[in-house]
Amino acid sequence: MSFNLVMIGPPGAGKGTQADRVCRAYGIPKISTGDILREAVHDGTSLGRQVKETIATGSLVSDEIMIGVVRERLGRPDARRGFILDGFPRTVTQAKALDEMIDGRGPIIAIVMSVPEPELVRRLGVRRVCADCGTTYGGPGSVTESSGAGRCTRCGGLLVQRDDDNIDVIRQRLRVFTEATEPLVRYYEGRPTFASINGLQPPDKVTADLRAHIETALAMSRAGGRAEA
Ligand code: AP5
Ligand code: MG
Repeated sequence: MSFNLVMIGPPGAGKGTQADRVCRAYGIPKISTGDILREAVHDGTSLGRQVKETIATGSLVSDEIMIGVVRERLGRPDARRGFILDGFPRTVTQAKALDEMIDGRGPIIAIVMSVPEPELVRRLGVRRVCADCGTTYGGPGSVTESSGAGRCTRCGGLLVQRDDDNIDVIRQRLRVFTEATEPLVRYYEGRPTFASINGLQPPDKVTADLRAHIETALAMSRAGGRAEA
């Protein structure tokens, strides 16, 4: 059965890390709006020029732009069998637009990942990403946790800090999450397919909890459609 997973969480909660794992496990595409925007900035496209400053300051890109980006991406053939959205929706307006876009395309399983703020700040401070392929480093046991530098084990690219991972912008991103994105939790929490996951646990345990919730939500959907909310 196809499903559409929406991952909500503050910066550094592990959305990208877990979305990579779930997309490998279920063979459906990961759609990370942050990655799409960063790639556009890197390539200097018209979208990239429009959003560069907004991302650098830790604010939200407009709903209009984001809904357009996601509508186009979900229209591609690989998303017909389900998808994992990492970082979208981030506002109630975006969530309503998503409901409309995927009407009849399987349930939305929405999860929020909770992690206390000091741990978020710590994680983002040690995170490094490959400048060439975008792979993220900095989780438990990662070389960058202690050394703060290195090379990508996948492609050999240089590991760098994301432009928005400096402390001032991190604080702004956390503020924006509280103000604009937390209302989303209230939008989804009445649905039987919603769950809150403890993102403070080791990554493997977070993945196990996530997969258990997906299986429960799918079973509910198969059993009677109440989970089709
Ligand atoms: P985006 O790229 O989505 O950034 P974010 O939401 O701030 O989230 P991060 O990518 O920083 O964190 P993550 O939760 O993915 O954590 P990760 O897995 O890397 O968005 C960037 C910007 O784009 C926004 O600020 C906005 O401007 C714009 N934008 C994007 N979408 C938008 C939208 N819909 N509307 C408007 N604007 C939008 O993990 C973090 C670190 O922790 C890593 O080093 C990882 O290895 C480590 N880690 C992961 N899990 C664990 C664990 N369990 N224990 C210990 N360490 C862990
Ligand atoms: Mg991410």
